[in-house]
Amino acid sequence: MDRAQRAHEVSVSDMGLIGEVLAGLTATPKTLPPKLFYDAEGCALFGAITELPEYYLTRAETAILRTIAPDLATLLPAQAALVEYGASDEAKGAILIGALAPRLYMPIDIADGALADLQARMAHSHPTLPVQPLVADFMQPLVMPSGIGDRRVGFFPGSTIGNLDPEAALAFLRRARADLGAAGALVIGVDLEKSPARLIPAYDDAACVTARFNLNMLARLNREAGADFVLERFAHQVIWNAAQHRIEMHLRSEVAQVVMVAGQAIHFAAGETIHTENSHKYAVPRFQVLASRAGWHTDQVWTDADGLFAVYLLR
Ligand code: AVI
Repeated sequence: MDRAQRAHEVSVSDMGLIGEVLAGLTATPKTLPPKLFYDAEGCALFGAITELPEYYLTRAETAILRTIAPDLATLLPAQAALVEYGASDEAKGAILIGALAPRLYMPIDIADGALADLQARMAHSHPTLPVQPLVADFMQPLVMPSGIGDRRVGFFPGSTIGNLDPEAALAFLRRARADLGAAGALVIGVDLEKSPARLIPAYDDAACVTARFNLNMLARLNREAGADFVLERFAHQVIWNAAQHRIEMHLRSEVAQVVMVAGQAIHFAAGETIHTENSHKYAVPRFQVLASRAGWHTDQVWTDADGLFAVYLLR
């Protein structure tokens, strides 16, 4: 069973999400929780997004990590425990593992199926490396297993921190500081703020893969929450919110309509949107201020040749 199939095993009702979904759809403005994106179909679509020509983030970050791997090997302690936050696949973690030769790899994710698959793959690709997955929501305080040792290197790639509002990002960075200890370090990938002319196509691609990813939320509610969304009556909308330094994704109702969701009637005005995701972008100084408010000092910052993406080493 692959990662996408396992993701599909957890339904909206299993996740206790119905209340959250209805609260979001009856609020003004309407919202849906981004965790709804990642069912089997959503995971597959996100994988396709990372390969789109317009979605530069994955390629830029991977290029930076490959380039800086020798630097990281000298800057970070040998024989550390490498703790990866939100590790549903090990592609980027493998670059750090190659550079650092850690004593232990601890991928953390809420999806136990994805972690079991990752562990099985690692047994083949890195047979001598102890892998100790931790099934946990890293947005909550973690209990680090005993025996992890003081030398801890955290890794949070993909600009996933950008999907958090700044206050939640600050709270995450503070918790990571506690998880990783006084001697710890954090390697974190963060998308740089740039021209909307470059940002908007990354979230509104010509092949409409991101549109399908966004609309899949409604399809998922049809499949799992007895909803009757007609997908053709909603459009993918991407906005650059300059004041908040973020890309916003919305689903815009093309007509006035009533949709049933879990037995409740949801009224849409023509043009009304459901806000589905924020992706915050940080210029280097702004991210450094956030990190320092959480108690981190920026040791190094690296960007790719085109200045699109940044990887920070925080201590
Ligand atoms: C997972 N996360 C970092 C992606 C991003 O770029 O904010 C999610 C995504 N949404 C649309 N495209 C990609």
